[in-house]
Amino acid sequence: GKKVLVFGDIGIDDIIALIYGYLNDDIDIVGVVTDYGNIPRENALKTVRYLKTIFKSAEAQQAKIIAGAENPMTAEVPEFVPEIHGEYGLGPIIPSNSNDQLPELENFYEISEIIEQYEDELIIVNIGRLTSLATLFLLYPNRMEKVKEIYIMGGAFWVPGNVTAVSEANFHGDPVAAQIVLTYADNVTIIPLNVTERAIATPEMVNYIDQVDSIKIVKPMIDYYYDFYKKRNPNVQGSPLHDVLTLMAVNREDMFTYRKLPVHVVQATRGTERGQSIADIRPFGSLEEETEKEIKRHRIAFDFEYPKFFRDFLST
Ligand code: BDR
Ligand code: CA
Repeated sequence: GKKVLVFGDIGIDDIIALIYGYLNDDIDIVGVVTDYGNIPRENALKTVRYLKTIFKSAEAQQAKIIAGAENPMTAEVPEFVPEIHGEYGLGPIIPSNSNDQLPELENFYEISEIIEQYEDELIIVNIGRLTSLATLFLLYPNRMEKVKEIYIMGGAFWVPGNVTAVSEANFHGDPVAAQIVLTYADNVTIIPLNVTERAIATPEMVNYIDQVDSIKIVKPMIDYYYDFYKKRNPNVQGSPLHDVLTLMAVNREDMFTYRKLPVHVVQATRGTERGQSIADIRPFGSLEEETEKEIKRHRIAFDFEYPKFFRDFLST
């Protein structure tokens, strides 16, 4: 399967995405970089290491787990959301290694070695804040040029955000990092709330999965996640698996409708517009006002076929 390096902030939908990747033969997860985000970096590292103890597949065992950034480039202390994802991103579940002393901490040189090792066949999937990915572009620009493709779960274009009226969590968490990645990276595909908000896991899907989930962690996690969304909106039909849809995009081009547009991320340090993602659809929009320089365009998914998501997710 395709060689995939995942950068995640290890909430419930990150973990379901990792499980989907570990079970799906078309995706080989070669490494997981665990950043701060939904939960603290240390908890994220412990949770991904814990997953490795319950997933005996060779792929899950060989995947390198490396701690990423602990804080955003915007320098403030991140706010975690245990009420949405649980303390360890596992909903109500506390991993058995929660009291372990952690041997390794961040090692960006080791992450760059993975990129060097897989060269032009490596696909990066960023399903958390973009701090570690941006750091790699700052430290190892030449190695990063070899990356085949980058998929980013992030942004919300002309639709409401999920952290403020206009901002999506991953871009809001570190707008500086998001802008750095979108400036340096080529071959970027953005999977925004425009589609991920609709990648709903319904109770029927969860009950079906529970029958085949021998480890019995998926249903408790999604029920916990669903409880949070139901409190906010009692009519919601299920919980959005933002990160699962993003990892799926690696193999399912046919599932999405894309547009290539210049993207700006608002760099305000606080307030509603922090991390807002703006795509420029003006015909001449791709030229920078001052320099007439061509602004990079990135592929953004604006629509997807839910039945294909439903079938692909359950068939795994
Ligand atoms: C994104 O933010 C995180 O909370 C989720 O895991 C997802 O990656 C959704 O905005
Ligand atoms: Ca995430």
